[in-house]
Amino acid sequence: MPPGAAPIRRPPPELAFETPSLPRRLLSRYLVNPVANCIPAGLLRALLRFAKSQLAEANWIEPGGWRSMVISYNGCCQQVADRILVNAGIVPMALRNRKRLAAHLIAKLIEQSGARTPHVLCLGAGPGWIVMDALAQTHTPARATLVDLSAEALAFGRRLASERGLEGRVEFIQADIRQLDGQPIDPPDLVKMVGICEYLSDEQVVAAAREVGRMMRPGKPIIFSSVSCTHGAEPFLRRVLGLHLTYRSPVAACRLAGRAGFGDFEVYPEPLGVYHVIVGRRRCGAGA
Ligand SMILES: C[S@@+](CC[C@H](N)C(=O)[O-])C[C@H]1O[C@@H](n2cnc3c(N)ncnc32)[C@H](O)[C@@H]1O
Repeated sequence: MPPGAAPIRRPPPELAFETPSLPRRLLSRYLVNPVANCIPAGLLRALLRFAKSQLAEANWIEPGGWRSMVISYNGCCQQVADRILVNAGIVPMALRNRKRLAAHLIAKLIEQSGARTPHVLCLGAGPGWIVMDALAQTHTPARATLVDLSAEALAFGRRLASERGLEGRVEFIQADIRQLDGQPIDPPDLVKMVGICEYLSDEQVVAAAREVGRMMRPGKPIIFSSVSCTHGAEPFLRRVLGLHLTYRSPVAACRLAGRAGFGDFEVYPEPLGVYHVIVGRRRCGAGA
């Protein structure tokens, strides 16, 4: 099936997704976003600094990095400004939806893998929150290897693994996913690239997916994600928080994975339509 024809799958109804009420959506679309998008960025940054926003500070240190993601995943913040941004903002809500959806799909793929101890390779894994959620959702004794540039993200991940009783099942490798050659990585039964492609150019996504494709047997799955700018807060995220994401449609994301030797895509939108989680399969005889 060509990437453009990837079927759209309905996310499982049992997942507790977050969706704003209709009045809140309208308020965001017609008042909050337009105002936040056009107030001078310097003024908004000063307000966020005054309000001691940890979410804003995390983004200023590393735009869209693992710290800001952990704050959005956690959902409970000390500062009032963060409570508003994290709980009422469409993007943090969509991020939590993506986390739930991806963890659920990874747990299912682990169960379907047929391997005795399925190995999940996570690229740009951050602290590995999503894959640890997935490991906790299945009785299959899977293990995971997390690859990330950030030593701090991996240190946070080690603590998370220990808190969740997952020591020995999660391995941590500090590396650039654009240079995986020579890293001690066992062949994966599943590759996860959720929450990384939006920080990479098209060529970098293709190169990284091609590299892991070389380690995978035909038919093995890859799970990745795309982000669209339908949330309406793109100017705010870019001007105020410094976030420069690469927005792609799910079709464009599938095309990139197709160029790297993957096919048979299935596309799962989270209910806000900001993120799509996509599952593909290593094609038979795909040139590496
Ligand atoms: C926003 S976080 C997402 C973490 C995780 N994928 C998730 O969705 O929860 C992006 C992570 O990608 C990592 N990263 C970005 N570029 C990378 C690269 N070239 N190689 C390895 N890690 C990278 C960052 O250090 C960061 O931890």
